[in-house]
Amino acid sequence: MKQSTHDRLLIIDFGSQVTQLIARRLRELNVYCEIHPFQKVTDDFLRAFAPKAVILSGGPASVFADGAPMPPASVFELGVPVLGICYGQQVMMQCLGGKVERGHGTAEFGRAYVTPEAATLPLLDGWFAEGDEQVWMSHGDHVSKLAPGFQVYGTSPNAPFAITADVARNFYAVQFHPEVHHTPKGAALYANFVRLAGFQGDWTMGAYKDEAIRKIREQVGDGNVICGLSGGVDSSVAAVLIHEAIGDQLTCVYVDTGLMRMGESDEVVGMFRDNYNIPLIHADESELFLGALDGQSDPETKRKIIGKLFIDVFEKHAKTVGNAKFLAQGTLYPDVIESVSFSGGPSVTIKSHHNVGGLPERMDMALVEPLRELFKDEVRALGRELGLPESFVGRHPFPGPGLAIRCPGEITREKLEILRKADAVYIDQIRKHGLYDEIWQAFVAVLPVRTVGVMGDGRTYDFACALRAVTSVDGMTADYYPFSHEFLGETATRIINEVQGINRVTYDITSKPPGTIEWE
Ligand code: XMP
Repeated sequence: MKQSTHDRLLIIDFGSQVTQLIARRLRELNVYCEIHPFQKVTDDFLRAFAPKAVILSGGPASVFADGAPMPPASVFELGVPVLGICYGQQVMMQCLGGKVERGHGTAEFGRAYVTPEAATLPLLDGWFAEGDEQVWMSHGDHVSKLAPGFQVYGTSPNAPFAITADVARNFYAVQFHPEVHHTPKGAALYANFVRLAGFQGDWTMGAYKDEAIRKIREQVGDGNVICGLSGGVDSSVAAVLIHEAIGDQLTCVYVDTGLMRMGESDEVVGMFRDNYNIPLIHADESELFLGALDGQSDPETKRKIIGKLFIDVFEKHAKTVGNAKFLAQGTLYPDVIESVSFSGGPSVTIKSHHNVGGLPERMDMALVEPLRELFKDEVRALGRELGLPESFVGRHPFPGPGLAIRCPGEITREKLEILRKADAVYIDQIRKHGLYDEIWQAFVAVLPVRTVGVMGDGRTYDFACALRAVTSVDGMTADYYPFSHEFLGETATRIINEVQGINRVTYDITSKPPGTIEWE
């Protein structure tokens, strides 16, 4: 295993939906951590990883289930602090001689309040100053008898052992989720934990950059790498980082699929040509993509066609680039997590994200994914560290399948042209009102429906479109942006006046879940 030069914290994942938020809280504290699924964490793995502290995540299983997920017993023999969260607490008690009981009417989901016990605990510095603290619970089973050496430091109505610790051994176990927003003092709990574990808090983006560069050099050696540039933040940051690591061994391929936004190709290619000396192939493959999509209306079919064509195009160019053996991608941490399930079995596929699903399997190239451990805002911080222009670093995400998934149903050149124009007006409006940076992502979808309107004295029968704008932290959950009525009215008027082919504008106010951000 490649060793980080920083103190490392290991998060053993038992499949909680919010495990990645633990990593996020730790990174905010400048602590280097890695999440590994429990199946992978063997005695050998632990020895090689040499963590300075361990966190046992929550998870959907019950310790009573057959083959319930467990950590290796040696976790508790490393002599390092261990924090168990929810299922992690139950596992800890089970392993160390305590007892867990099935829920039977004592399940707790959602908000709960923890009352302190008499003794104070350094893990809780900053807690209980004004009485009980709000926490977020999500458990069926609960601990009913503490393991020897443990004491209770906080209780909630349905979790008499909400906060427990064996201070002598530096073992801490809580029934709630301190990593979520709804546990307001959760960040303080993590800060206390890493302080008790002796972390210096010296893991910065600068340090990440140096380490990522070292790892890329190690992986690639003197091989050639091609990197698919989409113009989005992720692939741009990946490209610039890899270029810093291996210089001209990297060639970027910008594929114009014919599904790009207005002016996008010129902007992306221009940015790279003007600011970086990175060899860049600008492949105009619009005929290929649009031809293959002709007549296709099923969302998954469209995604798969696009994903497959990307492979073909990359493979074609890889051959012309000194036989590149590596393909670089800007895969992010949420992409990785969304594509694995805790049981190792197939997880539900909501959409085939083409930079994670399918693509690598068919390719005869190894993947270089230097952003695999980062969240979007961390990628932006890394981009700034690398000196990328702010106009690029702050760009809204743009999906690999491009405008294809913003034209629900069949794609036509006419619809794409209308979409490009409407989108440009919408984004212009958002920028003019100074709202661009407040919004995670904004775009127009041209709907597969024509509606009747009246313009001047004439009848129109044109497309309806939907405006979408969401706020989000990581794209996994999202809420619609609360534009003012004035803004929406002004934007609708501009789109209808300036874009021939649209005579009706709607605003999409669906959150994610239950919707997704894109329309397909
Ligand atoms: P959804 O629509 O699933 O999107 O809520 C979440 C975020 O991911 C982007 N997205 C993609 N990005 N390849 C990508 O690189 C894809 O196939 C893809 N599909 C969706 C979407 O724009 C949003 O930011």
